[in-house]
Amino acid sequence: MEISGARILVAGATGVLGGLAACALAERGARLALAGRNHVRLAALARDLGGPPARCFEACDLDQCSTLGPWAERALSGLEGVLVTVGAAGYGAVEDVSNAMAGHLLTVNALCPMAVLRGAAPVVADKGFLLAITGGVPGPAGPESADDLAGSADYTASKAALSGWLGVLTEELAPRSVAVLDIRSPRLDTGFTERSLTGRPPALPPGADALKAVYSLMDSITST
Ligand SMILES: NC(=O)c1ccc[n+]([C@@H]2O[C@H](COP(=O)([O-])OP(=O)(O)OC[C@H]3O[C@@H](n4cnc5c(N)ncnc54)[C@H](OP(=O)(O)O)[C@@H]3O)[C@@H](O)[C@H]2O)c1
Repeated sequence: MEISGARILVAGATGVLGGLAACALAERGARLALAGRNHVRLAALARDLGGPPARCFEACDLDQCSTLGPWAERALSGLEGVLVTVGAAGYGAVEDVSNAMAGHLLTVNALCPMAVLRGAAPVVADKGFLLAITGGVPGPAGPESADDLAGSADYTASKAALSGWLGVLTEELAPRSVAVLDIRSPRLDTGFTERSLTGRPPALPPGADALKAVYSLMDSITST
């Protein structure tokens, strides 16, 4: 897809990856709609990017999440793509993580992106794209080593749920040539793990360069 001129929703734009992605898309000429939780950072980003439509949302309000795609489609008079960069980290041995926290991680990391993309799927243009960031999904070709995964069962489960859902969505949207991008990111230097909602992240070497990851994400979009 040609990014220049494409109308794209970034949900999670107030986060590090979301903000970098929004700036990279704007530099390449995309027309953006921004959604994020933090209204101060959202307003600042929108100002920096020349005042695109912007809306606050809470990941735990799934019905609100599903309205973002239709809102962006109306605000931009069309929608070619959606990026969901919402996520929350949480650590701890399985017996140390409360059920409430496990439910929260599942909601923010899986049900929220699903709800955003569920709402966006009917309104995104044919040949458009829907993108979410997983990572932390174990498997033969997965990016995470066993060391990276220790103490992250609930986070890993939430991303695995999202990844499985995206796989089925890929098949469902294939007749319309809508690309579903499951970005299996390795650990990045965004400070994400330090913002863990519970427990402490394992001591690991610094993550990879987030800006490079965003450039590679731009390549993934361009090659759809
Ligand atoms: N960084 C990594 O190492 C890494 C690796 C693999 C995958 N990922 C995934 O990449 C995505 C972006 O991560 P990041 O590194 O950019 O971290 P980040 O800066 O912490 O971004 C997370 C985003 O999620 C939003 N969020 C969290 N809880 C929310 C809630 N209840 N309601 C609405 N928004 C909520 C945050 O909103 P606020 O701005 O209001 O805080 C923030 O915009 C996440 O899905 C993460 O799982 C990251």
